[in-house]
Parts: sequence; structure tokens; C-alpha cells
Amino acid sequence: MTPSFPVPRTCPYAPPPEYERMREEAPLVRASLPHGDVWLVTRYAEARQVLNGQGISTSPATPGHPNNAFTAEEPTQEQREVMERFRVGQFIDMDPPEHGRYRRLLIPEFTVRRVKEMRPGIQRTADLLIDDMLAKGPDAELVADFGLALPSLVICQLLGVPYADHEFFQSRTRTMVSSDDPQASFAAIIEIKNYLADLVAEAARQPKDDLLGRLITAGEVNHDEIVGMISLLLIAGHETTANMIPLGVLTLLRHPGQLARLREDPGLWPMAVEELLRYLSIVDWVAFDRVAVEDQEIGGQLVRKGEGIFVLGASANRDERAFERPDDFDIDRGARHHVAFGYGVHQCLGQNLARAELEIAYRTLFERIPSLRLAVNEEEVPFKYCQVIFGANAMPVTWRHS
Ligand code: HEM
Repeated sequence: MTPSFPVPRTCPYAPPPEYERMREEAPLVRASLPHGDVWLVTRYAEARQVLNGQGISTSPATPGHPNNAFTAEEPTQEQREVMERFRVGQFIDMDPPEHGRYRRLLIPEFTVRRVKEMRPGIQRTADLLIDDMLAKGPDAELVADFGLALPSLVICQLLGVPYADHEFFQSRTRTMVSSDDPQASFAAIIEIKNYLADLVAEAARQPKDDLLGRLITAGEVNHDEIVGMISLLLIAGHETTANMIPLGVLTLLRHPGQLARLREDPGLWPMAVEELLRYLSIVDWVAFDRVAVEDQEIGGQLVRKGEGIFVLGASANRDERAFERPDDFDIDRGARHHVAFGYGVHQCLGQNLARAELEIAYRTLFERIPSLRLAVNEEEVPFKYCQVIFGANAMPVTWRHS
């Protein structure tokens, strides 16, 4: 039987149970979307093959792209124009060689060395947010007070957003990421885009030696392209990190033995972050929308030109062919080969930054608030089971007053 897609999660710490059955059945499984069928890639090796990109396109403009199978409605002329404008510089949706033209300009901004230079700023921001939580405590709402605030402020620093605008920026990014109302999210994105357009215009008057200034002085991309590129950074780097922080905290609280080892030996944090990324796999399929541009065999299955594909990242990260006891959370496993950041040409550009943010967030929270715990029963946490990036809408936490 062809399963209908997407399949929602039923447990915060596991992919939808159907994934295991599908993975057993075949590396590629046919599934139905409301307006067409797609291939779902269930296993790790085939996931990497597809994400590697040979004979595969990620552009929604390529005929057969699976995102077009969610709705039969043709966009209006106005919607089409808004989307066209929105796509400028959004290289996540582009194929080589066009994709490389943009990505190449940003690679130097996210190297291990560059991110190392950002770490003191990230640490300061995390400490200030925790100072605030402690001043108001002994309870807090971890999503708004810390999970969303940290990546938002880090992006502000990266893009040189003036301090006076932080509140506007944070409130709009919060709506963009966490509103259940698509209209409100869309309106927030437009407001942010307009804000970023002004920021780029201002930076162009006297370019500094920062990310925006370097993009402007390189002279290879125009104003609209820069606005598109930096809004991609903001969107791609925000919801992901913001969801990983509270979910990771909760996962660690559920594994007190491993958390105790992390407290004793902070050198274990980088490994724990990799395992949290694998285990939680919050992005799953949404970023992994692809279409075949030539007939090809994948995992013994003929995939024809024009057939849509979704790689199930959460399934690949639980594939027993790549990870022993994949359903166990185990910080010692050495999970760095996971596909939580994707693989191949589109592999997450911000992964070094994300790793630093997560490591600093978890370590600092547990160091400075050692008695941190959930303030409600786990069943009362409002998880976002139906949203495309998994997370929680809120996470009330508390701690002992010292
Ligand atoms: C835990 C945090 C994060 C996760 C799980 C994550 C996940 C991903 C994934 C799965 C992709 C691949 C999409 C594809 O194959 O089409 C991706 C791409 C991307 N990510 Fe991240 N990401 C995170 C944080 C960040 C951060 C902090 C930034 C930058 C500030 C960022 C910027 C990007 C960009 C620009 C791309 C597009 C790369 C390309 O198409 O060449 N991400 N991310």
C-alpha cells in the first residue's frame, strides 16, 4: 500500500513509527501526496547518494519537484511575483553552478576558525540571557527566554543589527518561527526582509570589515541578492537552532547518567551535540526535497526523470546499517557522520556555528543552573507534532533558588 505523506511524529524522541517499517521494506518507498506520488528515501546510504546531488535537482522550478504536489492550487499572479522576489539569492533552492556563485561568497564566514572567533560573543550572549532568567526566576519559559533568543541575538551580531533594533528583530523572528498562523509568519518574513533591505542599503554607504561589508565590497552580488542571502541565513539558522536548544535540554534531563558525565568532563560536549543532532533529527524531510533530472538507479530502484523525492533524514539517522542500536541515545557513539546537517553540495553552511551555539547553550545552562528541570509533566509540553521542523512551542522550566 502506498502510505500518505507526511506522517506526523507521535513521540518527541523518535521519528514516526512508520519509518522503521518502511526502512525494513526498501531503501526507496513510494508515497502519496495530495497531488502526486513521490519517492521516500528511508536508508542512510541512499540518503547520502541522493543528497550528493548527481542527476538530482533541488530547485522548485524543476518539473516534478515534490513541493508542487502538496497543493493543486496554482498561485495567483501576485503570489507568484512575491515568491519570485523572495527567491532572489535563496541559494538553498538552486542547483550548481548558480548555487555555488552565492555559497562560495559565504563559506569564509563560517569556517571553524571564524566560528572560534565568534565563541566569546556567543558565550556572553548566553550568560546575559541566563542572568535575566536567574534574576526573574526560579522559573522560565525556555523556548522564548533562551532557545529563540540566543540564535536571534547571534544572528544580530553576525549581521551587525544595531542594538536598538534587537527587540524588533527578535519579536519578528519569534513570530516567523513560532506562530501557528501562516499569514502572520509570512507578514513577519516580509517585515524582516524590508528591515534587512534597509540594513544592506545602510551598510553599503560605508562598508565595514564584517559579513555584510565583505559581501558588498566583493562586488559580485547586487543589493537584492545580498538581502536574499542574509535572509536565508536568518531563516535557516534560526528555527533549527531554536528548536534544538530546548529539545536537547529535555533529552539530556531524561538521561541523567550521561548528563552527569558531561558535567564532570565538559570535553564530552561536542560528541553529545552530534548525538543530539542525530537522535532528534528535527529537520527530517522538509529541507530534503529533490527531483530526478535523469533516469537513474538508487538502491536498486529505477527513478525516472521528473520524479519527486524526499529524503527522510530522521529515518536515515536511525538506520541500523549506519548506527548500532540507533534508537538509544548514546553520547559515546561518535555520531558525526549523521545527516542532520544534510550531505553534499547543500550541506548546512552554518553547521560550525550551530555546533558552537548548541554546545555553549547546553553547557552554560547546566553549569549555571545545575538544578534545572521541567516545571510541568512531560505530557503537558506543547510539542509541534504537525510542523515541518520539529520542536516545542513552549517549555516551562524551574530550578531551586540558591
Ligand atoms: C541545529 C541547527 C541547524 C540544523 C539542524 C540545520 C540543518 C540544515 C540542513 C539539513 C540543511 C541542508 C538542506 C538541503 O540539503 O537542501 C541546511 C542548509 C543550510 N543551513 Fe543549516 N542547520 C542549522 C543551523 C544553521 C545555521 C546556524 C545557519 C547560519 C546562520 C545555517 C545556514 C544554512 C544555509 C545557508 C543552508 C543552505 C546551504 C546550501 O544550500 O548550500 N544553518 N541546514
